[in-house]
Amino acid sequence: MSKLKIVLGVTGGIAAYKAIDLASRLFKEGFQVRTVFTEAAAKFVSPINFAAITHESVHDSLWEDDDPIPHISLADWADLVVIAPATANTIAKAVAGISDNLLSSILLAHTKPVLWVPAMNVNMYQNPVTQRNLAILAERGHHVLDPATGLLACAYTGKGKYPPNIEIVYAIKTYLNYRRDLIGIRALVSAGATVEAIDPMRVISNRSSGKMGLALARALSLRGASVKLVYASINQEIPYYLSDAIQALSVQEMRDVIVPLAEECDWIFKCAAVSDYKPSSYSEQKIKKGEDLSIHLEQTIDILTELGNNKKCSQKLVGFAAETQDIIDNAKGKLERKNLDMIVANHLENAGKDTNRIVVIDKKGETKSIEGCKFELAHKIIDHLKEI
Ligand SMILES: Cc1cc2nc3c(=O)[nH]c(=O)nc-3n(C[C@H](O)[C@H](O)[C@H](O)COP(=O)(O)O)c2cc1C
Repeated sequence: MSKLKIVLGVTGGIAAYKAIDLASRLFKEGFQVRTVFTEAAAKFVSPINFAAITHESVHDSLWEDDDPIPHISLADWADLVVIAPATANTIAKAVAGISDNLLSSILLAHTKPVLWVPAMNVNMYQNPVTQRNLAILAERGHHVLDPATGLLACAYTGKGKYPPNIEIVYAIKTYLNYRRDLIGIRALVSAGATVEAIDPMRVISNRSSGKMGLALARALSLRGASVKLVYASINQEIPYYLSDAIQALSVQEMRDVIVPLAEECDWIFKCAAVSDYKPSSYSEQKIKKGEDLSIHLEQTIDILTELGNNKKCSQKLVGFAAETQDIIDNAKGKLERKNLDMIVANHLENAGKDTNRIVVIDKKGETKSIEGCKFELAHKIIDHLKEI
């Protein structure tokens, strides 16, 4: 299969050095990357970094390139153009249709997806001109990744920070195949392993990493849905754009957060691995060696059944079933018992891994087997839900 082709536009922002790591990640992911510099970008980073990492020479001129018409050749060549970091200046030029350098000319000639990664001082970012320009790009169908919030290089604290490269790679993978087709959908995703306390130190939990739930939350957000993430114990970083995610560790806490939130949501993905049992009593003091070693368990409340019973006609409820045997039959039983619209069945052997083999089963009993990395699977699960 031929490699997907990306033009990486680097502009003159202080975060330009971070684009070196982005180029490296994209190359390692198997993309063919050609870097285009603005004149200001070269004040911050050297083309040599990008040329060596991408195994392609860096383009920085309309006039001094081996190709006689480099802006058209590169615009036609690329499956996607990503501008990271994107300065306020280059954003404004693109809005006005100015094409006075190689990158701005490529942007005018390119007809496939464009992803902007704005990064700048908070006041530059919040300036109504920049905000309007970004809104215009979005209206034109360009994809704009929100900057992160935090301490900026200019010593201001606020929004304008270059986001983690891993999130830019997820966005690129999304926009090569999808548009923002879920605008208006309110989605709720639960993720991770619930934790039931035995004493101040010991817990009962499970091996769920939260990777599948986070992949779903990420894919939904990037495709334009408004996402509420409720997470228990996870070993993954939450995407910076889901800053209102709520942690709920125990089953009871998770129920108390999810049930009211679900009322306002169109799609509910119950991806968290929820404990079926919890200790029937909690010891305020750490249980010492030699004390009674038996732990009495009692059943926890069933959040999915409650959501299924309360489900409105306009809502879609998706459950997950991780099993070690009779995967499909067990999942089909759960789908019916809990009034789900779809269930994602998978073998427990893949808990904690980046890839998985899943079977998506809908209400009609139709099954679809899919294999891949959890982020790709998340998109496929969403596609299937859209279809039904
Ligand atoms: C030290 C320094 C850091 C800068 N950082 C940024 C930045 O992070 N974001 C931005 O939009 N502009 C930044 N600028 C301003 C741009 O470099 C300037 O607007 C330039 O004209 C951008 O050109 P370009 O868009 O063609 O790359 C910075 C300028 C300097 C001197």
